[in-house]
Amino acid sequence: MYSKTQEQNFIKETGILVKETADSLETARALSKKLIPLLTYHEWRYYVKNDPVISDRQYDEVYKKLESLEQKYPELIVPESPTQRVSSDLTEELPSVPHLVPMLSLGNSYNAEDLDDFDTQIRKLGQLEEKDVVEYVVEPKFDGGSIALIYENDQLVRGATRGNGELGEEMTMNARAINSIPLKAAFSSLGIYKAELRGEVLIRKDNFEKVNKQRVKDGGSLFANPRNAATGGLRMKDPREVAKRSLEAFIFHIAYAIDKEGNDLIPKLETHYDSIEMLGKLGFKIPVREKKLCKKIAEAAKFCQYWEGKRDGYPYEIDGMVVKVNDLKLQDKVGATSHHPRWAVAYKFKARQETTRLLDVEFQVGKIGSITPVAKLEPVQLAGVTVSSVSLHNADFIKERDIRLGDMVLVERAGDVIPYIAKVVEAARTGEEQEIAFPTECPSCQTKLIREGTAAAWRCPNYKCEAQLIQRLTHHVSKDAMNIDGFGKSYVERFYGEGWVRSIADIYRLDYAAVAELEGFGEKSAANLKKAIDVAKQNPLKRLLYSLSVHHLGRKVSSLLAAEIKHVMDLEKWTAEDYTNIKDVGPVVAENAIAFYKDEENVALLRELEELGVNVRQTDEDRPKVIAENAPLLGKTILFTGKFVQMGRKEAQEKAAEAGARNISAVSSKLNILVVGEKAGSKLKKAQALGTVDILTEEEFVALLEGEGDFRC
Ligand code: IVH
Repeated sequence: MYSKTQEQNFIKETGILVKETADSLETARALSKKLIPLLTYHEWRYYVKNDPVISDRQYDEVYKKLESLEQKYPELIVPESPTQRVSSDLTEELPSVPHLVPMLSLGNSYNAEDLDDFDTQIRKLGQLEEKDVVEYVVEPKFDGGSIALIYENDQLVRGATRGNGELGEEMTMNARAINSIPLKAAFSSLGIYKAELRGEVLIRKDNFEKVNKQRVKDGGSLFANPRNAATGGLRMKDPREVAKRSLEAFIFHIAYAIDKEGNDLIPKLETHYDSIEMLGKLGFKIPVREKKLCKKIAEAAKFCQYWEGKRDGYPYEIDGMVVKVNDLKLQDKVGATSHHPRWAVAYKFKARQETTRLLDVEFQVGKIGSITPVAKLEPVQLAGVTVSSVSLHNADFIKERDIRLGDMVLVERAGDVIPYIAKVVEAARTGEEQEIAFPTECPSCQTKLIREGTAAAWRCPNYKCEAQLIQRLTHHVSKDAMNIDGFGKSYVERFYGEGWVRSIADIYRLDYAAVAELEGFGEKSAANLKKAIDVAKQNPLKRLLYSLSVHHLGRKVSSLLAAEIKHVMDLEKWTAEDYTNIKDVGPVVAENAIAFYKDEENVALLRELEELGVNVRQTDEDRPKVIAENAPLLGKTILFTGKFVQMGRKEAQEKAAEAGARNISAVSSKLNILVVGEKAGSKLKKAQALGTVDILTEEEFVALLEGEGDFRC
């Protein structure tokens, strides 16, 4: 897509252009002509490569610069400007539009034998002999919403959903709001005047959880699974909402390509693999490591099986793999039915859906008192995992889906997404099912439940509620918070039962001799526990802030706050404005943090923690590392090998990081710079063989840090 020199230039320019000003239309035009490709490059690094080279803050600064130029001189606005992705125009209806080529489905296969049959069929239709090699490309079968994109004269001119396969729904505005879809792509450099691409719009599993969490906070209804969040996103009326959903688009097929004279260019592309790689070079998001060119169908089957095992760890939802004939001429020869192409087949993974009975509903109290209904199910196996309870989220979720006690429900487990009830099997109802009665009082302390503002959850407002306290203590010791090794919910319950812990501070006052006496503990576990607690006392401030269970104070905000203060009590004096002045900190966090510090008991708790030796001050880890825009190694990956004379390896790595580089641990195509000390071995050989790595001596590295050296990439 970009040469190394181009990338290097963009990175250098970022720091320079952001400082430039324009006071006439002409200078503004010249500047915007540089800023648009620059921002397009950084969008590509971030959304397509998932590997940004500048911080979000730096990106925002450049973006705002372009935005303000365009505000001052609207005649500079061009459709491909990154500021023009999200429009505020609302669509009434999504109009029907014909696809240039019908959007077909795929035939299915389930095992290696099915794929053998597919191969036999291809050979028969292609009039090939057994000795002929048929290449296949295997890639993920993404489970989202299908899209068709048309580019004309290098510009994205139309986006559409699949619709009925012949007619789609036009949603160009929404396609433009998806950052991994280029607004402009250099098809003309390949002689292509007009092209229709096919792909799938997805939401990453972690973003899906975030989107759902936000919907709970906003009092909206939840998506059952990532697919629904993606397909729903494609059809929204307001592109600004689409942008909020962090949708991404993978492209996996060119359905149509003509030159200016209308000649079909598809046969010229020769192979599916190369055509997809070409799209990658044009800036599209394509499957990379998850795609394989196979010389034999057995190799394709193996790759499918390998991915079935890896499915859970993959960031996107996939429901199988797709095996495609690589040779486009052969594809054309074997053709298609009215339903699916004959040159491709889906390899479907094992289903992870099962019906089971909903036996009971328990109401759990969270650390800030939110009441979560949890369905107890007759246990079912979903692809190797036994599921016996699932969250029903809140009262609205139960009401919207009309879930009743005794219902047969369809349970799905989508990858590492938590299992959920996809739907109620209404046909199985006998009339015996009963409505789920939501409690009006806290199941733990019997305080009357409240519901605030638009929140979806009912809450127990009693801060001293036992169930809440246990949850808060459990949160405090958890991995993401104070990370006290070995201390989990069972310890919390045990110590609570003994009457030893009634507040967070009590954790740091444990009588280890008494702990050692507890059944199942002993001297050794008590000593280990003490060690783990002593280690946790030295945690950076951000962990302490997060461990306090202040409503809406998540991990990210905690570290943003820790970066701004010297001592945990500094926040006592903070106003709402002090909070909201920090990027990504909103008024809701401010309100909750202020309320926390207003409560004398909380202030007393923080003082107690300080006295007990828990770190309450900003540490080095809390301070953000600022890397200058002109840092000599900005955006580079680096690796040190051999023995160094002027500095230790650790020091060299730290210096490289300060200069903007990322230390990586192995030689691969991702490596930019290898610094070789004395007695360098296999790493040097490997890097030399790759031919793409800059190899520096220790002296050259030092010179580079001092801004004197230069390197190829
Ligand atoms: S190829 C004619 N490749 O699966 C081309 N489809 O069941 C046919 N899908 O609607 C599509 N990942 O949206 C192809 N790697 C992939 C895919 C894929 C997901 C979807 C596609 C289509 C559906 C067919």
